[in-house]
Amino acid sequence: AATRHHEWEISYQFKSPDCVRKLAVTINGQTPGPTIRAVQGDTVVVRVKNSLLTENVAIHWHGIRQHGTPWADGTEGVTQCPILPGDVFTYTFVVDRPGTYMYHAHYGMQRSAGLNGLIVVSAKPGGPDAEPFGYDGEHSVLLNDWWHKSTYEQAAGLASVPMGWVGEPQSLLINGRGRFVNCSAMAATGGACNAAHPECATPVFAVVPGKTYRFRIASVTSLSALNFEIEGHEMTVVEADGHYVKPFVVKNLNIYSGETYSVLIKANQDPNRNYWLASNVVSRKPGTATGTAILSYYGGRSSPRRAPPTTPPTGPAWNDTMYRFNQSVATVAHPAHVEAPPPRSDRTILLLNTQNKIDGHIKWALNNVSFTLPHTPYLVAMKGGLLGAFDQRPPPETYAHRSYDIYAVQKNPNATSSDGLYRLEFGSVVDVVLQNSNMLDANKSETHPWHLHGHDFWVLGYGIGRFDPAVHPKTYNLKDPILKNTVAVHPYGWTALRFKADNPGVWAFHCHIESHFFMGMGIVFEEGVEQVAELPQEIMGCGKTKGH
Ligand code: C2O
Ligand code: CU
Repeated sequence: AATRHHEWEISYQFKSPDCVRKLAVTINGQTPGPTIRAVQGDTVVVRVKNSLLTENVAIHWHGIRQHGTPWADGTEGVTQCPILPGDVFTYTFVVDRPGTYMYHAHYGMQRSAGLNGLIVVSAKPGGPDAEPFGYDGEHSVLLNDWWHKSTYEQAAGLASVPMGWVGEPQSLLINGRGRFVNCSAMAATGGACNAAHPECATPVFAVVPGKTYRFRIASVTSLSALNFEIEGHEMTVVEADGHYVKPFVVKNLNIYSGETYSVLIKANQDPNRNYWLASNVVSRKPGTATGTAILSYYGGRSSPRRAPPTTPPTGPAWNDTMYRFNQSVATVAHPAHVEAPPPRSDRTILLLNTQNKIDGHIKWALNNVSFTLPHTPYLVAMKGGLLGAFDQRPPPETYAHRSYDIYAVQKNPNATSSDGLYRLEFGSVVDVVLQNSNMLDANKSETHPWHLHGHDFWVLGYGIGRFDPAVHPKTYNLKDPILKNTVAVHPYGWTALRFKADNPGVWAFHCHIESHFFMGMGIVFEEGVEQVAELPQEIMGCGKTKGH
């Protein structure tokens, strides 16, 4: 296995991803950052220099389990102190599974400022994890949403009373490029939009007629659930979050923040015209134009950059929950790559997701507890016996599931906040059921994509309505559930997942919508922390470890 070294300098730069000039957090001057490519079993070393001048940073390797290296997970407040301006931090970890992953900032709401990118791990040819499908070439598609307001302004708004909500994104980006629809109007009034800026040139994906392509698709959106389509080309879904899927064909693909998919497409359409790649907002009422790119055939008569002769696909109805639900249910393990889950769990944690208030501030909570990050990272505090560093009371395992009306605005919206964590018995099997509910406004429930660090989990089942612990576990798919690291909880729905607490460390589990995690929609698990090897000094230096 090889060791792949990267030298990254993180800095603010003026960028025009959607033709509008904005300060963005960049890696070596780029946003998105460079794609990390490796082969299964390789060691990746990324030396990160923080040149943000006035801002901390930490980088999370989303989907990489960090077996034996929990301190390299990059989660500020959980696994490390933030990297201070001017400091250097080296992340070293093994990529033990092939697949499509991503990385992004995990400090405050910095991810939405542009610090994100892809990780592509190829399988060892001929090995047990080699792809059960063939293709002639591949392309990568990184989907994002983009605002013109700074991340600071967004975060300060969320923390204010009354809350200042940034609203829907101004643009949807594909591989870091988009087009702000009101560019000319903005430019006419002196705004910094330049439709001819090379940084917002529409991306072109070229294909050879007759060939089959693997498209790796990842979403790092801050808010939006997306629907992705390649006009005129059906997609066969073959990978989800690094695991092979029993192939199924879709016209377009729903993808939530933190998820990755691979699809196969056949370049079998008229090569003499171009086709749209389109990303559209679903699950929230869209206020953003379709994000577009171009699919172009080599040797065709159309020049690669010419806009297709059609209007871009607009995707399914944004509020068609069952359309998305059905795709979730259809995503199961490839028959030749089924890893059967343990038949039962040792512990079930039932989490009610609600929108709440604390002293007038709007928050998100699990079982009425809104999560806050401690000042001393859990990993450091627990290894060092610094018990006063966070709330020692365990958060609640369940809620009043027999009486709670998930379709109603809750009667008493007040929540408490805590930085307590769930301690799991090492090696035990844990079920988590996420129950969605009505928000503070009547008749409103959103989709929440939940992401678990340090593990893949089996997705045992989905439902719409209230989860009943006496009934629904009997309907779980124990035969061929997909393993994932991020999963959707649909409006008014529930999602059940199972994992083995077999990775010594401390791991975040949270909604991948940046503002939701910021407002407390997350929890943290600890397992086998006593087995973690001696911690590297460079993760310390904040909270109760100052001066150590
Ligand atoms: Cu991709 Cu904790 O996040
Ligand atoms: Cu959420």
